[in-house]
Amino acid sequence: MSEPVGVLFVCLGNICRSPLAHGVFEHLVEQAGLSERVFVDSCGTSSYHQGEPPDPGSVLVARKHGLDISQQASRPLREADFQRFRWIVVMDGSNQRNTERMAAGRRPVHQLRDFDPEGPGAVPDPWGGGRSGFDVVYEMVERSCHVLLERVSAEL
Ligand code: 4NP
Repeated sequence: MSEPVGVLFVCLGNICRSPLAHGVFEHLVEQAGLSERVFVDSCGTSSYHQGEPPDPGSVLVARKHGLDISQQASRPLREADFQRFRWIVVMDGSNQRNTERMAAGRRPVHQLRDFDPEGPGAVPDPWGGGRSGFDVVYEMVERSCHVLLERVSAEL
């Protein structure tokens, strides 16, 4: 069997959007029976929240959909990620610019909503906003992750 393939989700703080994508995608990978072949992680382009768990808004919306993301911890994007992860998937244009600058051509950098049947566009930053922002993010993430998994699976 070929080497396992890594999928890394990236946002700014790694406490709101990318932890949700991480949890949703990992769950889809498990459901598809691909846990031995696909590994998943998330990180931020900043280290503002390094070591912190996800924002309560993300933890709650995930729990509403049967997922526990409370054990994740924020970490910044690092050089080694460009070797380790074949798929690098960001949430918005700002994440994309910052990640591409660091990737320096080693990997393509995808925006999550390029895989959204209702996209493309940014996954809006819900940080500091009301709870409904997290519901919107969850729906975008879920729709997009289904299509992303089809793409990742096709290249296994
Ligand atoms: P995230 O949301 O990028 O989806 O994790 C944010 C979290 C924190 C900050 C910005 C966005 N911040 O500026 O601290």
